[in-house]
Amino acid sequence: MYKDKADILHLPNIFLNFMENYTERSIALITAYVDSFNDLNEIHIRNFAIKKEHLLRVAEIAEFISIRLELNKSDSSIAKLAALFHDIGRFWQLNKYNTFDDSKSGDHAEFSVEILKREKFLKILGCDSEEVVFSAILTHNKFKITENLNEKELLHAKILRDADKLDILEVLTRFYSQSNIKPNHSLAWELPKGCNLSENIERDIWDGKVVQKKDVFSEIDVKIMQLSWIYDLNFKCSIEYALKRNLFEKIYNSLPQNYKITDIYRKIKEFGENKIRTQ
Ligand SMILES: [Fe+2]
Repeated sequence: MYKDKADILHLPNIFLNFMENYTERSIALITAYVDSFNDLNEIHIRNFAIKKEHLLRVAEIAEFISIRLELNKSDSSIAKLAALFHDIGRFWQLNKYNTFDDSKSGDHAEFSVEILKREKFLKILGCDSEEVVFSAILTHNKFKITENLNEKELLHAKILRDADKLDILEVLTRFYSQSNIKPNHSLAWELPKGCNLSENIERDIWDGKVVQKKDVFSEIDVKIMQLSWIYDLNFKCSIEYALKRNLFEKIYNSLPQNYKITDIYRKIKEFGENKIRTQ
């Protein structure tokens, strides 16, 4: 699938060897890779920048989680690498298919792994746990964590899923609270505003389940789905991160205020606070 974009990167390894810092070296690789696409139109340039910034922020959040989990150096590096490269396939996806919609192009997590393998980024960086990074990336965009992961793979799948969600929530809440931000593909779903919650969504949220995209039919549904992501945060520190930044509160504030929605928000908030107390 990826083969027709041949020889995309021409980065001298010697240049990377001068960089001692692992993160800096990874960012240099990402930058060179992103810059290797030419003839981009304005929309693509903007979306490339958005995606690159997302990778860097997710890596920062993954680092925060690693510190809070007191991970050793090796696991911290794996978490950082998985975060930095988890959406590397997005650039190729947009360039090739002119969309970020996986249903119209292909699974962007698979594209990311294909590109990592082809460009040998992890080898260049001296990573000896490529398979762990790959499995974390492959599961980051799935509704549930893939089954049959070993303990290490599961740990990194959880870290990446949390870090990715937390950054998406931050970007979304900024968008919801500031009317002057231009929407991009991941912010605006172009759905009818709606005034009622879909039935399945209401049931899922009260059952403590993450809402599925297939059940989303209006802007309200989307926001309730985003509230339900709290059920899929794997670590106490991730929930703390979200609550400290009032991420769920900001989503709630952007919703029409009625008793049903207030009750749902209360449930979400209590769920988070209980998790922090008891975990
Ligand atoms: Fe992704």
